Amino acid sequence: MNARKITKDVYWMGAVDWDRRLFDSLIPLPDGTSYNAYLIQGSQKTSLLDTVDPSMTHVLMAQLESVERVDYVVAHHVEQDHSGALPLVLDKYPKAKVLVTPKGKEMLVDHIRVPVDRIRAVEDGELLSLGNKTLKFVHTPWVHWPETMSTYLAEDRIFFSCDFFGSHLATSDLYVTDEPRVYEAAKRYYAEIMMPFRKIIQKNLDKIKDLDIDLIAPSHGPIYNRPALITDAYRDWISDVPKNQAVVAYASMHGSTKKMAEYLVASLTEKGVTVQQFDLSVTDIGKLAMSLVDAATIVLGTPTVLVGPHPLVAYAAMLANALRPKLKFASVIGSYGWGGKAVEQIAALIPNLKVEILSPILCRGLPGETDYNELDKLAQTVAHKHKEAGLM
Ligand code: FEO
Repeated sequence: MNARKITKDVYWMGAVDWDRRLFDSLIPLPDGTSYNAYLIQGSQKTSLLDTVDPSMTHVLMAQLESVERVDYVVAHHVEQDHSGALPLVLDKYPKAKVLVTPKGKEMLVDHIRVPVDRIRAVEDGELLSLGNKTLKFVHTPWVHWPETMSTYLAEDRIFFSCDFFGSHLATSDLYVTDEPRVYEAAKRYYAEIMMPFRKIIQKNLDKIKDLDIDLIAPSHGPIYNRPALITDAYRDWISDVPKNQAVVAYASMHGSTKKMAEYLVASLTEKGVTVQQFDLSVTDIGKLAMSLVDAATIVLGTPTVLVGPHPLVAYAAMLANALRPKLKFASVIGSYGWGGKAVEQIAALIPNLKVEILSPILCRGLPGETDYNELDKLAQTVAHKHKEAGLM
């Protein structure tokens, strides 16, 4: 069995996907990822927790070659990167049952075509004895689908969290060894798929706070042997209070909007606001998403093209709207040729953002002294708003 021992009779299985560079045809994976499955061999029963992405099924099946018996496969999450290899695993172990949340049962049938008679739904808090080891199923919905759950292995004090607490990081390390690197990858992961569910994640964190946990074993990235690294980080990221940070994200066709964005960033910096600046024509959208985890203010910079906002800016606005960050303030700056409806169209793209809109600044052609004065005033307003909110 080409697996890695975690504790007695508990093994990491799965696949490290070093070369994957995109997830969901959307999310950049600069550091690859892994699909972690785990095997728990109790004195009476054996359980596999999750499988792998269909592209890596052969890796998991090779690891299972010497495993004669699997009684249960716990499917924490129906998404294909964890459940995609289920059909082949179930073919190999014809008596094995798949354990999922009630919601997951119907989804497994629809998404993976698992025969319904192979699936058993488990309740929140339900215990399953494997003999000398006991699984406790903890429903943790919306991390990041409605059916997601986690498993606590009491005897070994391991919390198997699937996507919850995960990081897209290909590494040969079984455990976290480089905390800043994993923190960065986990924050990126949270920003990209967990952030819209901040409020529910708060409930999930409360639900597990009394569990005695030595290890958190997610289904992407290394195992946390210091669980507070990730639980403290999550508490910070999901909190309702943003930081004294502004995001200035822009596209520019002929340089005018770029001049405005750069001037605004300098002015905000001078006034004590921390800023992240993104040229949307070259930026990694994962970095943009990460910046929105903490930011209090977003300023979108757009030229007017085809009488509306630049499509890259519209895309960034749609993304921010979908991620529902804890932003408090927003504005638009930019340059136009002769007219248009860039501001109105951007405003219509962000209904989910509960922000106060600060007066937009649009100029015709190249920005001049009046426009720069207006940008200074906007920077002053942002700094003032941040102070009023107790962020600086
Ligand atoms: Fe890692 Fe939501 O799948």
